[in-house]
Amino acid sequence: MSGRTCLAIVLAAGEGTRMKSARPKMLHAVAGRSLLGHVLAATGNTAKAVVVGPEHDDVSAEARLFAPESQVFVQAERRGTAHAVLTAKAAIEQGADDILVIFGDTPLIRPQTLEKLRGALAQGAAVAVLGFRPADPTGYGRLVTQGDELLSIVEHADASEQERSIALCNGGLMAFAGKSALAILQKIGNANRKNEFYLTDAVKIARDMKLKAVALEVTEDEVSGINTKAQLAATEATMQQRLRQTALDAGVTLVSPETVHFAADTKLGRDVTVEPYVVFGPGVTVEDGATIRSFSHLAGAHVGRNAIVGPYARLRPGAKLEEGVHIGNFVEVKEALIEAGAKANHLSYIGDARVGAGANIGAGTITCNYDGAAKHRTDIGKGAFIGSNSALVAPVKIGDGAYVGSGSVITKDVPADALALERSPQTVKEGWARRLRELKSMGKKKD
Ligand code: UD1
Ligand code: MG
Repeated sequence: MSGRTCLAIVLAAGEGTRMKSARPKMLHAVAGRSLLGHVLAATGNTAKAVVVGPEHDDVSAEARLFAPESQVFVQAERRGTAHAVLTAKAAIEQGADDILVIFGDTPLIRPQTLEKLRGALAQGAAVAVLGFRPADPTGYGRLVTQGDELLSIVEHADASEQERSIALCNGGLMAFAGKSALAILQKIGNANRKNEFYLTDAVKIARDMKLKAVALEVTEDEVSGINTKAQLAATEATMQQRLRQTALDAGVTLVSPETVHFAADTKLGRDVTVEPYVVFGPGVTVEDGATIRSFSHLAGAHVGRNAIVGPYARLRPGAKLEEGVHIGNFVEVKEALIEAGAKANHLSYIGDARVGAGANIGAGTITCNYDGAAKHRTDIGKGAFIGSNSALVAPVKIGDGAYVGSGSVITKDVPADALALERSPQTVKEGWARRLRELKSMGKKKD
């Protein structure tokens, strides 16, 4: 927004009792990100103030995690939305041009909608409110309008029969021009019969001060707040649909979009193909041309250009695959750098490791990284060949170009270009099986 400064005040003192959970409402996740995290992300790089309830240290911690520069205010007593906003008075006094008030449980709010609210302020409104038309308006404040001006907001409980017939409801999100915000907010003096101070009274007060108030209409999903696990699930579905559309628009091929589950921060390059039934946890980046095959689960992982992952692969946090890497079925990778062109195609665990460029990890190879007390690293050199069913007991180093014979348990470093073999010599008894069968067919015992 051209040159105007902004303060976003996020009301995050949600009780969340209807979630039937020990966790504060704002910390429940949608697309791998907390409700509060979504709202803070939607506010972009504006200044932020977060209002939390009295015993919500973990909500404050989440606010600082997502927006380290945000100011956190504690509303000691729940005395209404206007009271909550005034808890952040010190932040308002810093004098931003635009002040946004957002509820922390509306994760579907879009940055462009907040920009639209600010646009109304730039055009001279002192108060701008988001309106929507819910299928069932019961419980919502009604927006009383005249032309494009907003006259007042009447809470459902206080509304007359005629006012209740108004379809346009208060979405809860409001924007205030900084220069008049405090004057308006401080006039919300009349606690209602629930002994709460209503932010919605700001509209009438602004008009009494000869200031302009407007309503902007949005679709219901943007403003629908979450109170129950069912609403959380419905919001997840809407969010997933948005993320799938964003991926398709960016040139990602989703063979069966409705089966793919994204995190809010999933980053996919062009010509990435995602096969059916893939789950992305938080923190995944996939570069151009890579293919993620069916039933793979990725979190905190980076997949390089043209790499192939899955089917049935698991990439855990710290997995970093360079260009052209192949990670196949039933292979788990954690905290490991797999350099360009290396392959681990079947049934392996690679954790706390480096696999050098072009190395081949045979089926069933395990890096034994944990000794019951601490984690240790495995380092596999460029072009090394690890035979199937080998156990590499960390800390251990396999040199460039070295071979490890199948079925070996490697506990000592292997020099470059060497062969390491750790298994008992094979015994062969010629004709033994035939003799056994002959003895059995004679009904006699073997000697
Ligand atoms: C509010 C609006 C209503 C609107 C509806 C949309 C008011 C008075 N009413 O009603 O017009 O249609 O949202 O969903 O604003 N909060 C605090 N401290 C408080 C009270 C509330 O932080 O003391 C926070 C809550 O955590 C929540 C938000 O403010 O995030 C809204 O409060 P809530 O009680 O849900 O208001 P509604 O009755 O839904
Ligand atoms: Mg509510």
